[in-house]
Amino acid sequence: MYVFKTQNELRAYLTDKQNIGFVPTMGALHDGHIQLIHQSTSENEYTGCSIFVNPTQFNNQHDFDKYPITHEKDMALLLKAGCDFLFLPVVDEMYPEGIKTQYSYDLGYIDTILEGSHRPGHFQGVCAIVHKLLLAVKPTHLYMGEKDFQQCMVVKRLLELTSMTVQLIICPTLRDEDGLAKSSRNTRLSSSARQQANGIYNCLKYIHDHYTTHSFDVLQQNCLEQLSTLGFTTEYIALADANNLTIMDTFDIDKKMVVLIAAVLEGVRLIDNMRLN
Ligand code: PAF
Repeated sequence: MYVFKTQNELRAYLTDKQNIGFVPTMGALHDGHIQLIHQSTSENEYTGCSIFVNPTQFNNQHDFDKYPITHEKDMALLLKAGCDFLFLPVVDEMYPEGIKTQYSYDLGYIDTILEGSHRPGHFQGVCAIVHKLLLAVKPTHLYMGEKDFQQCMVVKRLLELTSMTVQLIICPTLRDEDGLAKSSRNTRLSSSARQQANGIYNCLKYIHDHYTTHSFDVLQQNCLEQLSTLGFTTEYIALADANNLTIMDTFDIDKKMVVLIAAVLEGVRLIDNMRLN
């Protein structure tokens, strides 16, 4: 596996390559990322990954400072998974113009709800870095995990805005045996918090299993209570149209629906989602 720290070196290596699958990450890789790498290697001649903890998408300095860095382990996992190249830039390489606090991607409604409203500027930062990475890698296929449901929609919008021809492939969420969605942040959970952390999955499953017989209000309230009992501070339990993320107040089986949850457990913010139909 080739490792590049600069865009120039990366471009020189990629210049004659046609069919490239790309998995952008912030490192602390887990099976969910590796699943994306496997899907890419099975569908592309070349597969690349980037590891870059992007400062512009963190609206909480503590969260940024605490982001786990495990490069040696990540590289071993990527090598084993058959990844062809890793792009591992430093901040100055990606932001030679300096870190701006404001970007102006026209994301519309999607930037105003859920993660957009709880983490102001987050998706602008995601767009800034994904845009730069795509210009550097010029992949044919881009692989992202459905755990970050709203991020996938934002990136879809970014591709429209920038008229990039890359095809976005959204891959299903990988879970631990107890249902907890794989996430780099899980490593920050204490062992007691880890035992409660699948409470989010249990709520999603509960709503999934009861939406034909109960109202969303009732299920939402029960889940809020359940999460609170487990020690979570819930930011949202939302129902939305899975096609455009329009927030819904009640179930409507004529629409494709998704439930999304964000909740904080012992200072670790976790998100997850589940399609209902
Ligand atoms: O999902 C992530 O890990 C990040 O938001 C991404 C897409 C790599 C951009 O920094």
